[in-house]
Parts: sequence; structure tokens; C-alpha cells
Amino acid sequence: MTYETIIVEQRGAVTLVTLNRPQALNALNGQVLDELLAAMAAFDADASQGCAVVTGSAKAFAAGADIKEMQAQGFAAMYGHDFFAGWDRFTRTRKPIIAAVAGYALGGGCELAMMCDFILAADTAKFGQPEVKLAVSPGMGGSQRLARAVGKAKAMEMCLTGRMMDAAEAERAGLVSRIVPADELVEEAVKTAATIAAMAPLAVLANKEMVNMAFESGLAAGVQFERRLFHGLFGSADQSEGMAAFVEKRAGVWTGK
Ligand code: CAA
Repeated sequence: MTYETIIVEQRGAVTLVTLNRPQALNALNGQVLDELLAAMAAFDADASQGCAVVTGSAKAFAAGADIKEMQAQGFAAMYGHDFFAGWDRFTRTRKPIIAAVAGYALGGGCELAMMCDFILAADTAKFGQPEVKLAVSPGMGGSQRLARAVGKAKAMEMCLTGRMMDAAEAERAGLVSRIVPADELVEEAVKTAATIAAMAPLAVLANKEMVNMAFESGLAAGVQFERRLFHGLFGSADQSEGMAAFVEKRAGVWTGK
């Protein structure tokens, strides 16, 4: 597929996806969604790829859903077509995705970053859910994921006032895993993704699935889910190899089986 609003590159086992609508600060329209879904489906299906990075520009990861696309819409079209439901497919990507955020991650941009498995932030990153200023609300999961990530007080304040969080506050609040200098952001994200891509593939899928279950279940059910996946990994050749390699003081060689 030829992409017009994103750039997709393979760096070894890492798929690097760069949002590329600079004229609109990477605002997320229907074409961006379609292209991202196609890129993520290709990434998931490609056995040579182990982890993805989604990034934007130095000024904006993404400044939101495309306001100009939504401006003339009414309730019937939005509800009738379940507008934004396509983003749920992005979250069903099975392999890990890192968001590398510099500049603005606002509205749908913040929501896209939170749909990724974790966020690496440049020191220039700014996160916000300013939809209330447009007389609407988050619609791509932001109210739910932000509240789970930073707790009710900060999520409520951000959604009700549209206030932005800078990178330092986002790290303190637990929204981002780490802050890196802006000019090292993509390089550091690709390096982190390469570390993940070098792990045994089934173990990576299982680890992602079980951490996500923490957001979907109560503690006892989540712990049970973790244990069953853990048991299941003992059916893989890579488990035998991984533990033998540790005992023999050498690096494991994975087959993905
Ligand atoms: N949708 C469409 N176009 C956008 C956009 C968006 N979300 N954000 C920026 N743009 C466009 C601007 O209209 C402008 O285009 P023109 O040159 O054609 O006028 C261009 O990008 C550059 O933007 P600015 O001139 O505004 O740049 P700035 O540096 O002065 O300001 C900004 C940057 C503070 C991020 C400002 O652009 C802004 O406030 N953007 C909107 C942020 C926002 O409200 N996001 C939420 C959108 S709704 C949503 O996301 C719903 C949801 O739940 C998913």
C-alpha cells in the first residue's frame, strides 16, 4: 500500500511509523486512521518485525482529531457511523507499539499515544484533552485511559479545563515511561523497540496481553490470567531455549515456537 499521511520504515526488526500531515500538525483524519490500520496490520503479519514505534514531528505528535473533518457533522452521522470506532482496531494490534511523543499530543493525539503500549516523551512533549474548549469531549478513549493512567484528579482537571501537562508532570503522573532529550527521541524509541523485538516473540505477546488485562479485570482474575499465560509459555520451544541459555551462560536463539 502507498501511504500519503504516514511514512513507514523498517529499521531491522522495528517498524517506524511517522505521522506526516505537517500542514495540519498531524491532525488525525479518516485517511490517517485507514493508513495506520493498514500499517499495523502489515506489521502484525510480518514475522520479521517485533515492535513498532509511532511518532510525529518535533512540533506535534498529533494536535488532535481533524476538527475540519468533524466541523459539519451532526449527531446522526457521528452516532450512526459510530465515528472513531475504527480506532478500536488499532488497539487490537498484538505486537507492542511505543509512542514517541515530541511537541503537542492533544485530544486524539493524546488518545493515540495512550492507545500505544507505552509512551516515551521528549522534553518538549505536551499532553492535553482540550476538546471541552470545542464544546465536545474526548471520543477516542481519552477520558477512560487518562483516568486510568494519571488518576481521577488530574484527568478530571485536564478534561474540564483543557490544561496541558508538560513532559515532567506527565512523567511524575505516570503517563509516560521516560523523558529523553528531543533530538534523541526517535533514536531512543527505536533502540528500546529493538530491545523488545530481540525477545522471544511468544513471551512478548503474552507479556503485553497480561499487562493489558490489568485494565480489564479485577485483581484475582488478572492474576489467574497471568498465571495461565505463564503456564502456556512452558509449551514453547523458546522457553526451553531461554532457560537453557541462561544456565549455559549464552544468549538465547529464538524460533518463535
Ligand atoms: N484539526 C485540524 N486542523 C488542525 C488541528 C486539528 N486538531 N490542529 C491544528 N490544525 C491546523 C490549524 O488549523 C492550522 O491550519 P491552517 O494553517 O490551515 O490554519 C495548522 O494546523 C497549524 O496550526 P496553528 O496555526 O493553530 O498552530 P499554532 O502553533 O498556532 O497552535 C496548537 C498549535 C495549540 C496545537 C493549535 O493548533 C490547536 O489548538 N489545535 C487544536 C487542538 C485541539 O483542540 N485538539 C482536539 C481536537 S478534537 C479531538 O481530538 C476529539 C477527540 O476526542 C479525538
